[in-house]
Amino acid sequence: VGAVALGGAGTLGYFWNKSKLETVGEIDFDTPLAVPPLAEPTEDPSGARVFNLEIQSGTVAFKDGRETETWGVNGPFLGPTIRAKRGEEVAFAVHNGLDEGTSIHWHGMHLPSVMDGGPHQEVEPDGVWTPQWTVNQPAATLWYHPHPHGRTGHHVYRGLAGMFIVDDDESAGLNLPSDYGVDDVPMIIQDRKFNGDNQFDDNASFMSMQGILGDEIMVNGTLGPYFDVSTRLVRLRLLNGSVSRLYNFGFSDDRPFSLIATDGGLLPQAWETDRLQLSPGERAEIVVAFEPGESVVLRSNPADEGYEGPLARFNGGDDLLDICEFRAADTLADTTEIPETMGAAPDLADAEVAEERSFSLSGFNQINGESMDPMRIDFGVREGTVEVWEVENADGFMHNFHVHDVQYQVLTVDGQEPPPRLRGWKDTVQLVPQTKYRLAMRFADYTDPNLPYMFHCHILVHEDSGMMGQFVVLGEGEEIGAVPPSASAA
Ligand code: C2O
Ligand code: CU
Ligand code: CU
Repeated sequence: VGAVALGGAGTLGYFWNKSKLETVGEIDFDTPLAVPPLAEPTEDPSGARVFNLEIQSGTVAFKDGRETETWGVNGPFLGPTIRAKRGEEVAFAVHNGLDEGTSIHWHGMHLPSVMDGGPHQEVEPDGVWTPQWTVNQPAATLWYHPHPHGRTGHHVYRGLAGMFIVDDDESAGLNLPSDYGVDDVPMIIQDRKFNGDNQFDDNASFMSMQGILGDEIMVNGTLGPYFDVSTRLVRLRLLNGSVSRLYNFGFSDDRPFSLIATDGGLLPQAWETDRLQLSPGERAEIVVAFEPGESVVLRSNPADEGYEGPLARFNGGDDLLDICEFRAADTLADTTEIPETMGAAPDLADAEVAEERSFSLSGFNQINGESMDPMRIDFGVREGTVEVWEVENADGFMHNFHVHDVQYQVLTVDGQEPPPRLRGWKDTVQLVPQTKYRLAMRFADYTDPNLPYMFHCHILVHEDSGMMGQFVVLGEGEEIGAVPPSASAA
């Protein structure tokens, strides 16, 4: 039995008016953690692995009484885990079985912009979208979610999200825990607010500056989950799939754990810590060691305990929330280890920089003073070059920064070496207010002067309000084109 303690977060005045932690409920960890099934592809004549994704509405009995109306992929809520290996050709048939348009974006994936699944690849009701590309990036925990212009938050909140695990030979050669659902466990962590009728309540709060903060935490769609541990080492693939909430992960006994991978893949070396913060959209892989017969709870800790700086008194960073109980068996298999060296270190610190740009995020809907216009391409980058983007959260609200198509290296945070948790490849970073993040990224392989990639705040109410921009990747001699008016209607 654990506690849920929520700060008294108002909307506008929340950061100077934080009341003391207040226990609002208790969690019985009485439901086995659901593990999303692995999507089963077929093979087409060209050898591509074809995944059928059926976006649908449904209901789930989260609570006693009325069932909750939900959306999901190949099921009523969330979606299957997609798994593909570097070098493989993947193809999808995404059918939209909803009454409104939506899309599926492959967050963290390096791929052509026409396959990206952003606002320009919306799938009409009953439409089918068939993206296809060759997976060409290191092993990593990515994810997929809708990205329709102005409605991403609602669609994710309804239940559209899933993991996309990329494998490669190097990671397969390591002796890390890798038995899916046994010692290699996906954890899609999301908060929800239920109304009195057991329905997801995402209305009023979407008007607030921070978005919506639910007071119930689910993992893979399970409320009050426990997981039966059968091995000494367990790898957790943590995805903050919430629309607004920050988590400061740690265990109830403050045991150390090892961060082994960030958004873009494995770190060169594991980093031991007892706290890890993730903002919406970020992923991390951690390895935790268990003793036979013990129980311990994964939780999100209040800002004061281990956050770097004052930023975390935002978007739920002040709350104490129990997330999942781990129950170790009386005997634990012990066959895996954390290798001395794992992934390749980011290597852009000394790269020749073709262009520097700066981005200032402010309010809840602007980057550099402008809001998203789907027909406006903000700039073009050159294929094959490295750019450094200096990004700043210019106000007192919580923001983060996500770039499509690339994984970037955080060069500095306010001129200093970034903290260890930001030293691997990243595609989303939390932005501490009034702090400058220098991000280095290389644009490679795919060009299209007309169809842009997005960059945006991943607090989804901010993204939906317009805190987003668009860039194209240009081939040699190419100039910025124009977004085809038909692009949004797939
Ligand atoms: Cu996770 Cu532009 O998205
Ligand atoms: Cu993305
Ligand atoms: Cu924001």
